[in-house]
Amino acid sequence: NSKAAITGVYGYVPDYILTNAELEKMVDTSDEWITSRTGIKERHILKGEGLGTSHMAAKAVEGLLAKTGTKPADIELLICATTTPDYVFPSTANLICDMTGIRAVGSFDIQAACSGFLYALTIGSQFIETGKYKKVIVVGADKMSAIVDYTDRTTCVLFGDGAGAVLLEPTPEDNGIIDSIIRSDGSGQNHLVQKAGGSRYPPTHETIDKRWHYVYQDGPSVFKFAVKNMADVSAEIMERNHLKGSDVAWLVPHQANKRIIEATANRMGLGMDRVMLNIHKYGNTTAATIPLCLFDYESQLNKGDNLILAAFGGGFTWGAVYLKW
Ligand code: ACO
Repeated sequence: NSKAAITGVYGYVPDYILTNAELEKMVDTSDEWITSRTGIKERHILKGEGLGTSHMAAKAVEGLLAKTGTKPADIELLICATTTPDYVFPSTANLICDMTGIRAVGSFDIQAACSGFLYALTIGSQFIETGKYKKVIVVGADKMSAIVDYTDRTTCVLFGDGAGAVLLEPTPEDNGIIDSIIRSDGSGQNHLVQKAGGSRYPPTHETIDKRWHYVYQDGPSVFKFAVKNMADVSAEIMERNHLKGSDVAWLVPHQANKRIIEATANRMGLGMDRVMLNIHKYGNTTAATIPLCLFDYESQLNKGDNLILAAFGGGFTWGAVYLKW
C-alpha cells in the first residue's frame, strides 16, 4: 500500500501578542532571563476573537482546505491533538468538523501533551497506509493560556496559543511518512501536570484554592528528561533508517526551549541552520509547535528532503517521525 504524505499544511495564531516586556510587568522576570533560558521573545494569546482551542484549529483547517483546494465533503477522518480541549466532551475534533462543514466523518482527540501531534500523525498515517482512507486531516492545537497561571513566573513565560493542520494523502512516489516511534512513561506524571478538572480531582473550591487547575511543571526535571529522550529518540530513528546527519535536510523539533533543541541537533550532528525554529515568535504552543514549524518553513522545503520530527512532553510522552517531503 501507499505511504501517507503531507500534501498541505496551514497554521494559525491569534492576533494578540504577549511580549516579554509585558510579562515583566506581570511577574518578577526579565526579557534577558526569558530569552537566555528559553529563546522566547513573544507568544500569541487567544483573546476576544474566539473562545476555545477549536476556534484556532478551525481557522487552520479552513486555511488548509482552501489552500489545497479540498472540499470538506472529501475529508474522511479528522484527528485533533490537544491538551486544552474546549470541553471534556464532546471532543474538539467534533467541534472543528462542525465549524468547517466536515460532516459525518470519524473525528476524535488525542491527548499526549507536547507529543500529541506526532501521536496523531502516526495514527492518521495508518489509515492511509492500510488503504482505508485517502484524505485525513491531522490538527495540533492548544490554548495554553486557558490553563497557565499568570502569577507563576516559572511557567507563564513559556507557553502560547496556536494551531496547525496537515492534510495526509496516499503518495504514489517514495516520499511520505516512512517511520515513527511513539513512547510514554507514566512515572513522570507528577513533573508536568494539570492536576484538577478530570475525574480524579473534579473542580471544588479546594482545587481552585490550591491552583490545581493550572499547569504545574518541575522545570529542571522536565528539562533533563527532555534533553535525553528527544536526543535519544531522534538518534534511534536515524540509526534504524540508516541516516547520517548529512542525510537529514531538517530537524523539526517541538518548540519548548531553544537549549533543548540545540542539544538534540548537536547529538544528531546537525548545524542549527538545518533546524526549524520559531519559538522566539510563539513560545511553546504544545501540540501546535511542529505543524506551525512546517507551515513557517514550507517555502524552504524541497521535494524528497529528509525530515526528522521530534517531540517530548507531559506524561511523559515522546517520539520521532521520519518523513520524506
Ligand atoms: N524569570 C526569572 N527567574 C525565573 C523565572 C522567570 N520567568 N522562572 C524561574 N526563575 C528562577 C527560578 O525560580 C530559579 O531561581 P532560584 O535559583 O532562586 O530558585 C532560577 O530562575 C533558575 O531556575 P531553573 O528552573 O533552574 O532554570 P532552568 O535553567 O531549568 O530553566 C526552564 C527553567 C526554562 C523552565 C527549563 O527548566 C525548561 O525549559 N524546562 C523544560 C520545559 C519543557 O520543555 N516542558 C515540556 C513541554 S510542556 C508540555 O508538555 C505541556
